Amino acid sequence: MTIRFDGRVAIVTGAGNGLGRAHALGLASRGAKVVVNDFGGARDGSGGSITPAQGVVEEIRKAGGVAMADGADVSDFEQVTAMVDRATKEWGSVDLICANAGILRDKSFAKMELADFAKVLDVHLTGTFYCCKAVWNGMRERNYGRIVVTTSSSGLFGNFGQANYGAAKAGMVGLMNVLAEEGRKNNIRVNTISPTAATRMTEELLPPQALALMRPEAITPAVLYLLGEDAPTRTIMGAGAGSFAVIKIMETEGVNLPQSDWTPDAVAAHFAEISDMSKAKALEGAFQQTQKYVEQAAARAGVKL
Ligand SMILES: NC(=O)c1ccc[n+]([C@@H]2O[C@H](COP(=O)([O-])OP(=O)(O)OC[C@H]3O[C@@H](n4cnc5c(N)ncnc54)[C@H](O)[C@@H]3O)[C@@H](O)[C@H]2O)c1
Repeated sequence: MTIRFDGRVAIVTGAGNGLGRAHALGLASRGAKVVVNDFGGARDGSGGSITPAQGVVEEIRKAGGVAMADGADVSDFEQVTAMVDRATKEWGSVDLICANAGILRDKSFAKMELADFAKVLDVHLTGTFYCCKAVWNGMRERNYGRIVVTTSSSGLFGNFGQANYGAAKAGMVGLMNVLAEEGRKNNIRVNTISPTAATRMTEELLPPQALALMRPEAITPAVLYLLGEDAPTRTIMGAGAGSFAVIKIMETEGVNLPQSDWTPDAVAAHFAEISDMSKAKALEGAFQQTQKYVEQAAARAGVKL
């Protein structure tokens, strides 16, 4: 099986550096026309320049691919809409989007300024929402769309000093869960990548021997699979240093307690059983949880539903 993107138009945000650059090069090498978006700022989101995006466009063109540079700031909806309009005018549609742009403003929660929280949420979560929003109706009309949003182990599992980043990155999963449902009937598939790679974002965190194993190119195969014709939907894929994994939010089977036990003491007494993962399941949608609890209550009370 060879995954190709001939005839498809892709936007990769934050593609002037690091992971986005690798994804843009990967998509172009397999036939996609690629909008290389990058605001071109520093790691904390300050400044801005079109040069990084243009550099990647040149690399793609030299390799025989098709690309255009775009300097939109993903946290500005007008700029994002203008980027999507430009791509649509030039190439007819936007079929794939990889929302990858991101910044860091790490600080312990005690020291975190409100502005550092707001800015990180704006770029990652609101920026991803804007990108999805700007392409959504076109994808619905054409009955085709593939979206990959970028989360992080910081959001999924927690990391000291990243309350802003972790909250934004966990939000990606919430966005994916809903968009995957809403996009299903229009052949729009929405997935999430959880990368770990050596980029300017992580260069101070790990020793050089580890960083040498963690090339950004190692994440791109997962992203391209998740953007492919036969991609799954609603999948969180972890990738780094050649490892690939799937991450799921699981719920334990739990226990249903009679009203006489609706006390914190009874919850404490049953906590081992409540948290027993042996029969845990990844639920497919919000209503499944309600249904499960109602069924458990009905079974215990002998009520027929
Ligand atoms: N590197 C890792 O190990 C790692 C781990 C988890 C998640 N991520 C996520 O992967 C994505 C890419 O990160 P990276 O490591 O390649 O970092 P990077 O800093 O090399 O690349 C991020 C790019 O996004 C661009 N950007 C920032 N704000 C923007 C904006 N408002 N509009 C458009 N472009 C903007 C930057 O200019 C930069 O080129 C980010 O979302 C990051 O949070 C990275």
